[in-house]
Amino acid sequence: MKFLFSLLFLSLNFSSFFYYTIARGGERSSNYSGFMSSSYLGSARHLFEENHFQKLDKLAHGYMTNYDLEKAITAFGRRCANISRIYSIGKSVEGVPLWVMEISDKPGEEEVEPAFKFIGNVHGDEPVGRELLLLLANWLCDNYKKDSLATLIIDNVHLHILPSMNPDGFSLRRRGNANNIDLNRDFPDQFFPMNDNLDSRQPETKAVMSWLKRIRFTASASLHGGALVANYPWDGTQDKRKIYYACPDDDTFRFMASVYSRSHYNMSLSEEFQGGITNGASWYPIYGGMQDWNYIHAGCFELTLEISDNKWPAANELPTLWEFNKMSMLNLVASLVKTGIHGKIFSSDCGRPLHASVAIKGINSTIKASHAFADYHRMLAPGQRYEVIATMPGYKSKNTCVLLGEEAMTVDFILDPEIASNGNLLKSGCDCSLNNKSRFKLVEFLPGPHWEVSLILVSILVFLCFLFKRRVIFNHSKQRQLVGPKRSVVI
Ligand SMILES: *[C@@H]1O[C@H](CO)[C@@H](O)[C@H](O)[C@H]1NC(C)=O
Ligand SMILES: *[C@@H]1O[C@H](CO)[C@@H](O)[C@H](O)[C@H]1NC(C)=O
Ligand SMILES: *[C@@H]1O[C@H](CO)[C@@H](O)[C@H](O)[C@H]1NC(C)=O
Ligand SMILES: *[C@@H]1O[C@H](CO)[C@@H](O)[C@H](O)[C@H]1NC(C)=O
Ligand SMILES: *[C@@H]1O[C@H](CO)[C@@H](O)[C@H](O)[C@H]1NC(C)=O
Ligand SMILES: [Zn+2]
Repeated sequence: MKFLFSLLFLSLNFSSFFYYTIARGGERSSNYSGFMSSSYLGSARHLFEENHFQKLDKLAHGYMTNYDLEKAITAFGRRCANISRIYSIGKSVEGVPLWVMEISDKPGEEEVEPAFKFIGNVHGDEPVGRELLLLLANWLCDNYKKDSLATLIIDNVHLHILPSMNPDGFSLRRRGNANNIDLNRDFPDQFFPMNDNLDSRQPETKAVMSWLKRIRFTASASLHGGALVANYPWDGTQDKRKIYYACPDDDTFRFMASVYSRSHYNMSLSEEFQGGITNGASWYPIYGGMQDWNYIHAGCFELTLEISDNKWPAANELPTLWEFNKMSMLNLVASLVKTGIHGKIFSSDCGRPLHASVAIKGINSTIKASHAFADYHRMLAPGQRYEVIATMPGYKSKNTCVLLGEEAMTVDFILDPEIASNGNLLKSGCDCSLNNKSRFKLVEFLPGPHWEVSLILVSILVFLCFLFKRRVIFNHSKQRQLVGPKRSVVI
């Protein structure tokens, strides 16, 4: 009786469960999805997949094979050689290279610019993204110096495009990779230690994780199918409940997701999702997803975009899907330059760039300025007042209030080294106009009877450096302002 009852319960839930698995859902979350026994699920899915495969195989006509994709990427790299660089971030289980197209006027060079990444085909049976990403790359190349948005993106952003994260899953016409692991459940999770064993992680996941160590991405998006909505963090909740679970940057993410949905042909008209956007956990919680990991571990603001109700539509629908998504993709990337707060952080003791942290009061997340140029790029919802705080060990923190309008703002910081109570400069690792010998003499002076005199000397030097720096920063600000109308502040 009990058995019959639970069977009934299962079948009643099956349709709704299935609905959830359509887009981000999945096998690996069976531990957390609660009511469904994994063996039952396994066989049901297996039957589903076999019929599905034949259907998808027919549908594959008109889609690029993995071989076609590689050729298309190489051809793009040749045709648009002076605004692109082709590189691989690793290989799939079956040894297929994970090719990336970097698009920028200075590809491969580090610049004072934000970087954005698009990842397609995370799920093998969701191939629309990989097709659209090739169209996007080629459109940008064809319209550089002709279209203002294309030019803005190529000149001011480093756009990295990974058309397929899961080529093996694509050729197998299934969601998981060659080991049948759902890659969007394979990242370390903030609440559950499910993927903490590095050795058991999939090569595709490892490749993306080490990619984020090498390149500092400001924001990104992965492209999926099976629904029409822009999904933002958190994807999971601490207690596995299906509720709206806001991350610290909820306003920022709602803004970014809306940029996508409002620029889309009809995503924002969704009846199911207000405005065409959704918090991941309020739709259905997932664990081990790529999106939350990006935000937590790399300070990269990532969206999960569901770009077609049909996961694998007939190829003749691709041109329409491209038209529907084109402005969304362009505007999302351009929002990195057109909105938010940008700047650089220097030390006042000689204008050294500082790899400092930038936080916003009341928002528990920090981003870091780059090592090389100390530039930072902070996505933020426009139309609000923010207190921006720059911190660096060994330096006094500084903060400033800004009213962020619709346009981007430049806020540069000059941080002063901390002075201990006995008058010693802490961590003043730079020699400014002094060589290291004379600095040593100065430091020797400090604890002695003449330390007040020395302090005045130090102050004068610091002031001179400060004047010198202001000029440097003024020049940098002028450079940034070429991008567009921006207000500029030096703190
Ligand atoms: C790339 O080459 C084209 C044509 O030779 C030229 O118009 C364009 O300015 C070049 N772009 C860059 C970033 O050098
Ligand atoms: C998930 O379930 C499997 C067996 O059903 C178990 O071995 C594994 O430890 C579980 N994982 C977690 C994170 O609970
Ligand atoms: C968007 O347009 C497509 C194609 O006309 C249609 O199939 C889909 O149902 C529409 N979705 C919404 C949310 O209006
Ligand atoms: C800020 O977030 C971290 C985790 O990222 C958490 O450990 C900490 O408690 C949070 N602080 C506040 C004040 O919420
Ligand atoms: C001082 O400069 C010399 C060379 O001019 C260098 O070898 C030495 O390491 C420097 N010392 C410090 C403490 O920076
Ligand atoms: Zn998906």
